Amino acid sequence: MDEVFELGSKIREDFPILKRLVRGKPFVYLDSAATTQKPIQVIEAIKNYYEMFNANVHRGIYSIAEEATVAYEKAREKVAHFINARSPREIVFTRNATEAINLVMYSWGLSNVRRRDVLLTTEMEHHSNLLPWQTLSKLKGATLKFIGFNEDGFLKLEEFDKYKNKSVKLFAFTFASNVLGTINQVRELVKYAKKMGAVTIVDAAQAVPHMPVDVQQLDCDFMVFSGHKMLGPMGIGVLYGKERLLEEMKPFMVGGEMVKAVSFESSEWNDIPWKFEAGTPNVEGAIGLAAAIDYLQRLGMDTVRKHEVKLTEHALDALTRVDGITYYGPSSPEQRCGLISFNLKGIHPHDLAMFLDNEGIAIRAGHHCAMLLHNRLGITASARVSFYIYNIPSEIDLLVNNLEKIKKMLEI
Ligand SMILES: Cc1ncc(COP(=O)(O)O)c(C=O)c1O
Repeated sequence: MDEVFELGSKIREDFPILKRLVRGKPFVYLDSAATTQKPIQVIEAIKNYYEMFNANVHRGIYSIAEEATVAYEKAREKVAHFINARSPREIVFTRNATEAINLVMYSWGLSNVRRRDVLLTTEMEHHSNLLPWQTLSKLKGATLKFIGFNEDGFLKLEEFDKYKNKSVKLFAFTFASNVLGTINQVRELVKYAKKMGAVTIVDAAQAVPHMPVDVQQLDCDFMVFSGHKMLGPMGIGVLYGKERLLEEMKPFMVGGEMVKAVSFESSEWNDIPWKFEAGTPNVEGAIGLAAAIDYLQRLGMDTVRKHEVKLTEHALDALTRVDGITYYGPSSPEQRCGLISFNLKGIHPHDLAMFLDNEGIAIRAGHHCAMLLHNRLGITASARVSFYIYNIPSEIDLLVNNLEKIKKMLEI
């Protein structure tokens, strides 16, 4: 077997859930773009926290409170190192990518966007990177504009010309589309935005888990991602922001932990990043995320990416052999992240997903929180398969065999 695929087979042992049966069949999980499964190392790290040093952080004088604080702040350092941020001060823990975007919208957006400014985004965004900007444009009387995408699933870069002489305050775009799979040229897009004087926010929910990412090299102002899509637990997300911008921003939420001094009339905010982390944070989430990063770094992000490109290649090849399949996005696996959205003629994606569930195969069906994108494709829904490090080619073969079986059964 190819050594990249061998890795997938070996590490499956670390994922207890992959050993279970679903509807009496071996479980095939093809929905990692929604959330990934968790290795035993992450589960153990969380268990160890609760068994050995569960305490609130940043306040206790006693030993285990100090241990919890150290673990929480070490997790921040690990995240900073993982994406090559200049300092842990640039890493804010949030609940998820969505909350991180909302933080930027409320904190940076409300203070910096004015009437008639242009907010620019794209037609391939997840709702999490669309609705906050719709909301901000309404609150401030700004205009929300969109960069479209072409038939191959790439952004139409020529459309930037329309905004050359406009007051574009912000460009919010996805690193990798959760429907088309397209990996955008982030460095180039940041350059375009900078020329327009716009601040950039990159939705890296489908990128940071899957490939090496270096925020200094990309030079974006903000980047967001979620721990649960990269082997970590739910309820922990990350906002990366350039120190200068975070320093200028007002807190998004106020309360305990984010102040230095409080008088009857006013308060002095804590330093970054704690200024943005009001209340008791998700300590177990940060510890679990740190364990997830350790796990990914042991494999190496280059290897993670290679494995995914190979699987995507295999899947594209196998799926396109099925008569009646239309898939969306780039044809080259190198230009895609590890997911493929498709439709099979004659069957609704929801029915398809139900049939596959009967065989123990979990796939996603619907609009994947990207209605605008589906509108643009002229469809209301699609089926989506998505992969991660624990997937192996035989799972894709099983999927394709079942698609053929369904076709035969329904005579489509
Ligand atoms: C591209 C993209 N952005 C944002 C999100 C939102 O992530 P979360 O629900 O973890 O905030 C998702 C989740 O599927 C996504 O795929």
